[in-house]
Amino acid sequence: MNELVADIKHQISGLDPIEALSELAAHSPGKIVFSTSFGWEDQVISHIIFSNNIPIKVFTLETGRLFPETYYTWNRTMDIYGKPIHAFYPRHDLLEEMVNQKGPTSFYESVENRKEVEPLSRALAGNDCWITGIRAEQSASRQDMGNVEWDEPHQLIKFHPLFDWTLNEVKAYIRLHDIPYNPLHDRGFPSIGCAPCTRAVQPGEDFRSGRWWWEDQSKKECGLHEVSGETLG
Ligand code: ADX
Repeated sequence: MNELVADIKHQISGLDPIEALSELAAHSPGKIVFSTSFGWEDQVISHIIFSNNIPIKVFTLETGRLFPETYYTWNRTMDIYGKPIHAFYPRHDLLEEMVNQKGPTSFYESVENRKEVEPLSRALAGNDCWITGIRAEQSASRQDMGNVEWDEPHQLIKFHPLFDWTLNEVKAYIRLHDIPYNPLHDRGFPSIGCAPCTRAVQPGEDFRSGRWWWEDQSKKECGLHEVSGETLG
């Protein structure tokens, strides 16, 4: 698979995100998806996809525990661009079983519990390419990744179009294009996940220190992004 990654890197080298996403969409028609959590980076990518009519399906994983501000951003994005954002929920039967056995907040008890029910595999099934808003600057472990990767668990190519962008570049792009963004970002939330697992950080604190703050600080991943079966971090 290293060859495939090298080929794709070559194919998109020197292209800006609009060109690279268009190129990959042409390469995998109907088999390319973008996952959004409505964070800063994701809003830039949604803007690029929607305003350039790039044929990439946009989806979000809806845990039912998102912040009200995230639902607001989701609605605003649908209103402004008039394009679909597909929601994937955990399977209700599995969710009910888990909550009935362990209670409604078992994710605080262990990392395994936290990663237990999630519909990512269903959202990615049948696709060749998965786009995300990951940037190298977000964490030490992400700096070791590349902008194109082979995702072993889901057997597809992963592409991070803003991989080399700084947060300041992301914010400048949002301002320039008047892109809607999650109002929590202006209230001390640089990285936003589910409400029970995310809190504000102090100025100067690490980007991701407000995520899963009760866990081992070296394991700041929610389990969506795993390479060769190993979660990064
Ligand atoms: S996480 O693994 O720690 O949660 P992070 O919040 O940094 O990830 O987001 C990185 C990328 O993962 C986002 O740009 C987005 O592509 C994807 N992502 C994270 N959470 C979700 C979600 N709930 N639904 C869809 N995609 C998500």
